[in-house]
Amino acid sequence: MSTHAWHQETLLTQVGIHADPTYGSVSSPIYPTVTYQHGPEGLGTFDYSRTDNPTRTALAEALTVLEGGTGSSVFSSGMAAIQAVAASLKQGDHVVLTEDVYGGTYRLFEDTFTKFGISTTYVNTRNLPALRAAMRPNTQLVFIESPSNPLLQVSDIRAIAGIAHEYGAVMAVDNTFMTFLRQRPIELGADLVIYSATKYLSGHNDVLSGAVIAREPQVAEHIATIANACGGVLSPMDSWLVMRGLKTLALRLNQQESNARQIAQFLDKHPNVAAVYYPELGVKKDIALHQQQATGPGAMVSFQLPAHMDPGVFSSRLQCVLPAVSLGGVESLITHPYSETHRELPEAIRMALGIRPGLMRLSVGIEHVDDLVRDLDAALSR
Ligand SMILES: Cc1ncc(COP(=O)(O)O)c(C=O)c1O
Repeated sequence: MSTHAWHQETLLTQVGIHADPTYGSVSSPIYPTVTYQHGPEGLGTFDYSRTDNPTRTALAEALTVLEGGTGSSVFSSGMAAIQAVAASLKQGDHVVLTEDVYGGTYRLFEDTFTKFGISTTYVNTRNLPALRAAMRPNTQLVFIESPSNPLLQVSDIRAIAGIAHEYGAVMAVDNTFMTFLRQRPIELGADLVIYSATKYLSGHNDVLSGAVIAREPQVAEHIATIANACGGVLSPMDSWLVMRGLKTLALRLNQQESNARQIAQFLDKHPNVAAVYYPELGVKKDIALHQQQATGPGAMVSFQLPAHMDPGVFSSRLQCVLPAVSLGGVESLITHPYSETHRELPEAIRMALGIRPGLMRLSVGIEHVDDLVRDLDAALSR
């Protein structure tokens, strides 16, 4: 039976399995080596571990198959992955980004890459005429998140890829919130898929990691060359941790999503919640668009506290949900985007986007949903 016929759940259990030709170990071996002895003919498959390492290669190959790309590079963090994509640009190039992009991505472009002569425009990518108006002859990259962070706004990946390609630009999707199990940007026309693998892919809040998966082999090769040149690659130990995490991704995501769906419905009815942001709630047109391009709403829920409730006091009342940044792991975490993940965005922009002081972002974990609902209810109702 061809592995091409296997479901993603099966492919996930197989990650790294054939990486040990010597002993056939079921868990991928970890090769903690920097360099490799040359045979009489000179260099072998591996030369130096910044360029390639068997453990990292096993992870990269698995991600290529799972995402439906032609090649991947694996990085020491999600930001290192985004940095490699940005480093593929040249002086004078222009980038269009989703306006409520992750704060670290905003900081990377504004504090670092604008210094090298790369200009940016942040636009509401749900508004296709606005996106088109932002495109310039020198636009080389369109970078989106859908659903976006933290407001879970949905952008039309296929339409945006079409616009980017009309202008000869590369279209990249940060798919961290959805994963390839729920949303497949390459099939929708994207050229690059980016991950903070720190989140759902590894899933246990114990390893920083990132990845870029490319649709075209020459683009994958270009990103791999940058990874080697800049050096922010993932270590063999951490590559193994991500592979171990991937094996249970489907189970974790199913549970997290089921919990999140129930929590979103609970919050939506709660008298002390002013608004809920979740891809299955809100404007019908956006729900329909998300359902067209993704197979589930994911496990991130944002909500607005009423004006009288202090976000710090609210978080400190929670016992099961941990007040901490990051997302996607087995533990439920709550974040205050205004002062934490998105504090890099200028105040006026945060307010205009709806990233206000009362906004909370909840990454739902695998706990029993009743415990989570009780915890939130107690903190909201006091
Ligand atoms: C959507 C998104 N992309 C990228 C990143 C950066 O990833 P990392 O923290 O692994 O560098 C984050 C981090 O929170 C994120 O939420």
